[in-house]
Amino acid sequence: MRITWLGHAAWLIEAGGKRVLIDPFITGNPSSPVKASDLEKIDLILVTHNHSDHLGDTVEISNRTGAKVVSMFENVNLMCSNGLKQDHGFGMNKGGDFVDLEGIKVALVQAVHSGNECGVVLNIDGKTVYHAGDTAFFSDMGLIGSQFEIDIALLPIGGYFTMGPKQATEAAKAVKAKIVMPMHYNTFPPIRQDPGAFVKMLSGQKGLVPVPGKPIEL
Ligand code: NI
Ligand code: MN
Repeated sequence: MRITWLGHAAWLIEAGGKRVLIDPFITGNPSSPVKASDLEKIDLILVTHNHSDHLGDTVEISNRTGAKVVSMFENVNLMCSNGLKQDHGFGMNKGGDFVDLEGIKVALVQAVHSGNECGVVLNIDGKTVYHAGDTAFFSDMGLIGSQFEIDIALLPIGGYFTMGPKQATEAAKAVKAKIVMPMHYNTFPPIRQDPGAFVKMLSGQKGLVPVPGKPIEL
């Protein structure tokens, strides 16, 4: 599996011949290493909530590439009323087991934020990735860790709008991820954080600090 951070909460995951985007906020993202128009051949786009720094370029990328879009029902409806091709949307909700979409297993899980929020768990090519979306730390993250065997957790550490580093360290422990990568920091002044310090706070879990645009092979 190859994971590339596109800055903020945006990620490109490539595995088993599939290309998945999560929260593709590219245009207007000061830490994005790419242009939205550079993103081609996308199979699936997962959107954790309807805030603009997560919805981002979803409608444009989906309509251009044919990528299916998975999000909470109401968010999909919102995107359809903003021009997303009707048959591209897969509205879901939280709480079930994996659903197979385009050969990629996807489940939506709890998050504590606003904007009709969720986290996403996906399994491609035998590996399971948890993208927490924007969220506070909450004790039921332990349920996510017991229901899914999470290999890689992508956790917000910016504070202000989401968990900060201290809470994200607790979240990492709760979901029992083997590998933890921080996100949603240093995009804008209020969410300035030191990702190296976060990674050092993790105990018994491997932390990796992603560099925007630099693929990580796992
Ligand atoms: Ni948000
Ligand atoms: Mn956000």
